[in-house]
Amino acid sequence: MLDLNVKNVFDFVSENEILEMQEEISSCSEQLLNGTGAGNDYLGWVSLPGSIKENFFKQIDRTAERLRKKSKVLVVIGIGGSYLGAKAVNDALSDSFDMFRNDPEDPLMIFAGHQIGEDYMHELMQLLDQVDYSIVVISKSGTTTEPALAFRLLREHLVNKVGAEEAVSRIVAITDANKGALRKLADREGYETYVIPDNVGGRFSVLTPVGLIPLAICGFDIRELVKGAADMEQKTSGSASLKENPAALYAATRNALYRKGKKIEILVNYHPKLHYVAEWWKQLYGESEGKEGKGIFPAAVDNSSDLHSMGQYIQEGERILFETVISVEETEHDIKVPEEREDLDGLNYLAGKKIDDVNKMAELGTALAHIDGEVPNLKISIPKLNAYYLGQLMYFFEMACGISGYMLNVNPFNQPGVEAYKKNMFALLEKPGFEEETKNIKKRI
Ligand code: PA5
Repeated sequence: MLDLNVKNVFDFVSENEILEMQEEISSCSEQLLNGTGAGNDYLGWVSLPGSIKENFFKQIDRTAERLRKKSKVLVVIGIGGSYLGAKAVNDALSDSFDMFRNDPEDPLMIFAGHQIGEDYMHELMQLLDQVDYSIVVISKSGTTTEPALAFRLLREHLVNKVGAEEAVSRIVAITDANKGALRKLADREGYETYVIPDNVGGRFSVLTPVGLIPLAICGFDIRELVKGAADMEQKTSGSASLKENPAALYAATRNALYRKGKKIEILVNYHPKLHYVAEWWKQLYGESEGKEGKGIFPAAVDNSSDLHSMGQYIQEGERILFETVISVEETEHDIKVPEEREDLDGLNYLAGKKIDDVNKMAELGTALAHIDGEVPNLKISIPKLNAYYLGQLMYFFEMACGISGYMLNVNPFNQPGVEAYKKNMFALLEKPGFEEETKNIKKRI
C-alpha cells in the first residue's frame, strides 16, 4: 500500500501541531464525503473507482480492440484535464524507448490539441501520412479552442488519407452527454462516443473514459489502475483520522507548512517516467487551490537531473519551499555496476550495487541536505511503478486535494481564473460575440 511519511517536517511544524488539526480535517473531509461543501456538484470522482463495473470495462475492451487493429498510433486530442491523466499513466508505464522499437505490440499514444504549436501540427501530420492511426478526441465542454482546432485539422487529414467512411470508424469522441460543439459534431458524423459525467471535472477525470479509453487502446491495464484507486478510495473515505488516512495527513501537513510561510510545494521524483505524473499533479493542485489570492504553488523537479539545475535554489534560495518526494521502492529491472580491473573512472566502490541503490542514496542524501537547508520533506512511497499503485497514488492525490482545498476555504472544483486569457484571445481573434471586448482590447495594444 502507498505510504506517507511526514516525520521530516517535524523540525518545522511539530507532530502535535499537525495532530491538533484533526478537527478541521474531519470537518473538511466530511464536507467532501457528505457533499456539503463548495462545488458539491463536482464530487462524482469521490466514489467513482469503486463504482466502475465489469460491464463498463467490457464495453471499453470492445472499443479498444476495434481501434487497436487499425492503429500503430493513437492520437489523443485534448488539453488540461482532458489530456494530462492519460499522458501521466502512459509515460509512467511505457517503455522509455517504445517509439524506437520496430514493431511495438500496442499503438503508441501521442497527443495533439494540448497546445497551439503550428510546427508541431505540421510535423505530426507528416508522421501521420506514414502510419496507420486513429483518433480519440476529448473535450468535456466540447468547445475548447486548442483541441477543436487540432481536431479540425486531423479530421481532414484522416478523411483524406482513409476516406470518409473509414475515418468515422477510427474516431472516438469523449464529451458531454448532450451539449457542446463536439457532441453535435460526433452525433452528426456518427462517431462512437463516451460520456464524461457531469459531476466530474476535467482534472479529476482520469478514471472516466477520458483516461480509460486511450489507455485501454494503448494496451494498459485499466482494471488494475481502477482497482488501485478503489483500494485507496476505501482507505481514505472511511475514517478521516490523521493516523489512518494518508490523504488526510497529507492535506493537514501541507497546510500546516503553508501557514508557516512555506508557499511552494515541489513534487520530487527520482524516476524519469514520473515526469507527467507531476504535471498532472500540478494541474490538479494548481487549478483546485490557486484562487482568491491563496494557494500553495505546485512545482516539480525530476531528480537527479534537476539537482544539477534547480538544486542550488532548493538548497539555498528563498526559504519558502517544501518538498514531497514520490519514492518508488522497487525497480522493474535489475542492473548492477560492473567491476573494472583498472578502475580508471574510480567507480569500483560501487561495483555489485544496483543502479537503483545509487539512486536511493541520491534521494536520501538530498532529503537530508534539504532538511538541513530548511526545506521540510514529505515522502510518499509506492512499492512499484505499476498500474495498481499508480491508481492508488492518483486517487490519494485527488482525495487530499479535495480536503486541502476546503482547508484553504476555496471551492476546489471550479477554475474561474482560466477564463481571463480565453476572453482576451477571443477578443484579439475577433470571435463573433466578442465585439465589445475586441474594441476594448485594441485600445490596450
Ligand atoms: O480541469 C479542468 O476542468 C480543465 O483543465 C479542463 O480539463 C480543460 O480546460 C479542458 O476542457 P475541456 O475538456 O472542456 O476541453
